[in-house]
Amino acid sequence: MALINIKIEGVPYQVEDGITILEAARQCGYEIPSLCNFNHGECNRGSCRVCLVEATGARGLVASCVYPVNEGMEVTISSSKAVFARRAAVELLLSNHAVNCQACHKNDKCELLHIAKITNVREDMFKGEKTPTTVDVLNPAITRDTSKCVLCGRCIERCKNAHGLSVLGYQNRGFATIVGPAENRNFNDSPCIMCGQCVSVCPTGALMEHSEVTRVDKAFEAGKYVVVQTAPAVRAALGEEFGMKIGTPVTGKMVAALRRLGFKKVFDTNFAADLTIMEEATELVERIKNGGQLPMITSCSPGWVNYAEYYYGDLLGHVSSCKSPHEMMGAILKHYYAKKIGVKPEDMFVVSIMPCTAKKYEKTREQLVTEGLADVDAVLTTRELARLIKRSGINFNKLADEEFDNDIVGEYTGAGVIFGVTGGVMEAALRSAGYIITGKEFETIEYTAVRGFEGIKEASVDIDGLTVNVAVAHGMKNAKVLLDQIKAGESKYHFIEIMGCPGGCVNGGGQPYVRECFLPNEDLDIMDTYVQKRAGALYSEDERQTLRFSHRNPQVQALYKDLLDHPGSHVSHELLHTSYEARERFND
Ligand code: SF4
Ligand code: SF4
Ligand code: SF4
Ligand code: FES
Repeated sequence: MALINIKIEGVPYQVEDGITILEAARQCGYEIPSLCNFNHGECNRGSCRVCLVEATGARGLVASCVYPVNEGMEVTISSSKAVFARRAAVELLLSNHAVNCQACHKNDKCELLHIAKITNVREDMFKGEKTPTTVDVLNPAITRDTSKCVLCGRCIERCKNAHGLSVLGYQNRGFATIVGPAENRNFNDSPCIMCGQCVSVCPTGALMEHSEVTRVDKAFEAGKYVVVQTAPAVRAALGEEFGMKIGTPVTGKMVAALRRLGFKKVFDTNFAADLTIMEEATELVERIKNGGQLPMITSCSPGWVNYAEYYYGDLLGHVSSCKSPHEMMGAILKHYYAKKIGVKPEDMFVVSIMPCTAKKYEKTREQLVTEGLADVDAVLTTRELARLIKRSGINFNKLADEEFDNDIVGEYTGAGVIFGVTGGVMEAALRSAGYIITGKEFETIEYTAVRGFEGIKEASVDIDGLTVNVAVAHGMKNAKVLLDQIKAGESKYHFIEIMGCPGGCVNGGGQPYVRECFLPNEDLDIMDTYVQKRAGALYSEDERQTLRFSHRNPQVQALYKDLLDHPGSHVSHELLHTSYEARERFND
């Protein structure tokens, strides 16, 4: 694109023609406040007015996030007129906001509060009536409080961009406008897949995960035998909550912190990821041999399972019957491990630390109850875990590394670790598929065709003369392409991995918020790269493992000998498999 000459604050610069003043200023080292503009234009409504600047050639002040630069333009950010106008815009937003920052879980990452600070807002400058508020706390995964909403529209855009869905939209008109599901329904009565992507982009506390910290507190108070398991993606991002660079793996510190929080045992969900591979690969082989429904689709991501139940109920027979790894782990802990250590299953309380909000819903499914007990009792997001650690006075950064408990169900392989990134489940399955199909050992470890962040990846793999066609999709917009092929009878694949969140679990809706304004020491272009950095943390842990094939996990082998007999056995089906049900959609 052609370069043009502009001046910002009187200093000459050359920038690309046609970009917005906000982008141009960023490239030249200025940071103009912004709220409704997000992620380099992913959301770009020009509605909040907190980015006002003066620009020659324009009449009055302009919203820098939507106004393009042109040759010879002179932009002024620091004039009294611009400074006071931005301050007034923020004061107006706050005048229609339930400001109770001290009790708001967003307060350390709230962009409205951040902008209020840097624009030096005055107290209660605009007093008057407030828009009637809707508070929706019925959904087990996500809460919505419109008294904290700035109507920026980021959530609406993310739902569309990630999934091609329009669960959220502007409801009502004028002063009564709020953001929510159609007809102002609650989340439970909407076709929301509970992925939490909207939560992860909301600049305020208007959308949050449904916190289960109190539920965990009560389990401790009641004297339950409280154990915890952590998903692979958590260790790749938890350090960000404690000021570490994005992509810093903190496995050992995380384990040490969980012990200090009082959990009786600290397990790695990766053990069950290895178990999932054994069950899922066996299911695939059986489908191929016995003419079962193909392609088979993975079932680890509850956001994806919700989408399948709402939008593709006629394809549910393609979804693997395997429970997701943390649900498998919960069932094994309560119905095997508890007995081994002399604890009654009903006295055990299983907490899952997950990068995901949809897992909070998943654990409530009636299909995930074994012998009258829910497999998992509480799900905390990575963000909630960070809050627990901070609340307890633990100096996370100074903790010495500790190891997971792994007496009988904790050992894990590198294959389990990479479950946290798009393509990881497929790669783990491919590593073990040869052994499961032929009983022979194969040594190929890395399947690069299924790595990376393209929306859809595909590969054909030769397994001892059998060609297996596979595909990987992340985000429902991409998944829809593959699902429509199946519906049309045009799918050429045997096995498909689908993850709900773009990039996979490393970018789950429960992961630490990534905002440039709170990350002064990261690359400015971080929004494009943080997912890759978190994924890099998992791939490096995979490389460090001595065991990298799920079927070589000695504790998984022992579990089959001691309890399950063989993958796909009757006992396996009772403990490790589940079912799905098409669900009615209320609004579209
Ligand atoms: S959303 Fe932000 S400004 Fe509003 S109460 Fe929470 S921390 Fe404060
Ligand atoms: S949780 Fe996911 S599906 Fe539901 S509104 Fe948010 S982005 Fe859309
Ligand atoms: S809920 Fe959050 S992201 Fe959505 S419009 Fe309101 S403030 Fe913006
Ligand atoms: S950021 Fe420019 S109008 Fe909202």
